[in-house]
Amino acid sequence: MVGPLKKILTIGIIGGGQLGRMTCFYAHKMGFRTVVFTDQANSPASFVTNEVIIADYSDQSALKKFAAKVDIATFEFENIPCEAVEFLSSQVEVCPNAQVLKVTQHRILEKNFLNSIGVKTAEYLEITSLETLCEGLEKFGKAILKTATMGYDGKGQFVLKNAKEAENAWDQAQNHKLILEKFCPFNSEISVIVARSKNNEIAAYEPLTNIHKNSILDESIYPAKISEELKIKAQEVAKKIIEKLDLIGVLAVEFFVMENELLVNELAPRPHNSGHFSMDAAITSQFEQLIRAITGMKLGSTEFHSQGYMKNLIGDEVKDLEKFYQNPRAKIHLYGKEKIADGRKMGHVNILK
Ligand SMILES: Nc1ncnc2c1ncn2[C@@H]1O[C@H](COP(=O)(O)OP(=O)(O)O)[C@@H](O)[C@H]1O
Ligand SMILES: [Mg+2]
Repeated sequence: MVGPLKKILTIGIIGGGQLGRMTCFYAHKMGFRTVVFTDQANSPASFVTNEVIIADYSDQSALKKFAAKVDIATFEFENIPCEAVEFLSSQVEVCPNAQVLKVTQHRILEKNFLNSIGVKTAEYLEITSLETLCEGLEKFGKAILKTATMGYDGKGQFVLKNAKEAENAWDQAQNHKLILEKFCPFNSEISVIVARSKNNEIAAYEPLTNIHKNSILDESIYPAKISEELKIKAQEVAKKIIEKLDLIGVLAVEFFVMENELLVNELAPRPHNSGHFSMDAAITSQFEQLIRAITGMKLGSTEFHSQGYMKNLIGDEVKDLEKFYQNPRAKIHLYGKEKIADGRKMGHVNILK
């Protein structure tokens, strides 16, 4: 017997990035095998998995081959074609399911869904012309134009204050599906990682405060710098979302903390960068929680046993590790990426207080 449960022995992971890599580490630790499906050679996960299949996400014969090798599949990022996951679902169980992916990979569908279940977001409009963009900007005052799909780390976003900026942004972005969001003058940003298992057990971690630099997450701090009341409220909202989405796996919910309320910014149906502190500071890491959730185990404790913060190593920051090695309470995680690039996530460090 390989895995702890007789039925599920091999976990398939779609996507080969660092989240896939860390999912592999924990799957192996828990006795499972892994197969990674990615369209990139030499991806971070490919170095630490039992097998890797490198093919286009639209390659049905490669997807079939992958499905035949695994007992259950999950994905580590949302920017994979829904059709690939739908096709895969006809061959093998995929958690979270294709419908969850469809909603969470599209900012408009995601916000429509959240508002339909009574969860507040920033005000938003679908943008289909320069006229609707200018009208929207007039209504919101200050706003952010975003591509509805494929955005991450602030890519595909334009902060707009006047008609001139709107025109420039329209010129650059008009070939994409677009959403305009009212600019939210938040006090801070937090996120909650929540998990739901096959047995409908739901467990949320406490929120962390997220600090962004150039629209890329820089640090996540535990405990979050908000009231106890808001911490509980954020976890309640996250639990409601995961249940209503019918998501089995792990979900990250990003919030804007406004003066008197929480607004949900976005969802990620997978482990999240802001959850990495759980690897060294919580009883159960978010990656172990994902494996537990999708293999039908009981969820682990989400309790944090240590305070501190996670610092991302972005671009050249990865060259300066000595100070972290000097700190016996700093835990360094590197993603095995060969090329350093501006804005590229090379690793992270969890610094325990
Ligand atoms: N409506 C908004 N109002 C104010 N700031 C925003 C808004 N939308 C995004 N931002 C800022 O930009 C960051 C990245 O935007 P987000 O929608 O989370 O996209 P990404 O997919 O790139 O993470 C957010 O964490 C926040 O700091
Ligand atoms: Mg975000």
